[in-house]
Amino acid sequence: MTEPAYFERMYADSDDPWHLAGNPYEERKYALTVASLPRERYRRAFEPGCSIGLLTALLAPRCDELIATDPVPEPLARARARVPATHVSFAQSALPEWPPGELDLVVLSEVLYFLSSDVRAQVLARVVGSLDADGQVVLVDWRHPFAEAACTGDEAHDEFRASPALVRLVEHVEHDFRLEVFGRA
Ligand SMILES: C[S@@+](CC[C@H](N)C(=O)[O-])C[C@H]1O[C@@H](n2cnc3c(N)ncnc32)[C@H](O)[C@@H]1O
Repeated sequence: MTEPAYFERMYADSDDPWHLAGNPYEERKYALTVASLPRERYRRAFEPGCSIGLLTALLAPRCDELIATDPVPEPLARARARVPATHVSFAQSALPEWPPGELDLVVLSEVLYFLSSDVRAQVLARVVGSLDADGQVVLVDWRHPFAEAACTGDEAHDEFRASPALVRLVEHVEHDFRLEVFGRA
């Protein structure tokens, strides 16, 4: 699992270490992500690893309540400023920490491969345990190996695909990223 200190250092060196803002690749991927949501509206959504809130801003109009978290305070402050809506809450928190109560949308965008296999298993169990009957989980991940990643995006997706509790609703695969939406089986 990539240690919190790694992300703290990344954000100490740059407001946007992955160059997410104004990046055509990221903007297209975010647009595909929200376009892939099977439902128009969600009651209660959770987006861990929200960083500076770019995807959060696109999810917010689709949700009655949206909980966005990141372990690092600096990007969270930027996300809060970017998405000032009262139905969106921001909290400093790291997976596998999970909000109590039922959810009908979980968005795991470019975060799973930073987690150890044990924590990924806990996250999968949390997803299955918290999604209500018509709940959905979205996974979006860079597909190629890199030094800080505990696994590839494809490997993380395979773990969700193997869960008998989930059924795949959407699959979009490109050379660089994989986007999938799962509902309850
Ligand atoms: C590559 S960025 C992805 C940001 C955003 N989700 C997106 O798709 O644009 C990864 C983010 O995950 C956060 N992160 C790292 N470890 C985490 C953990 N255990 N739980 C939740 N977020 C984590 C990092 O601080 C960073 O902001």
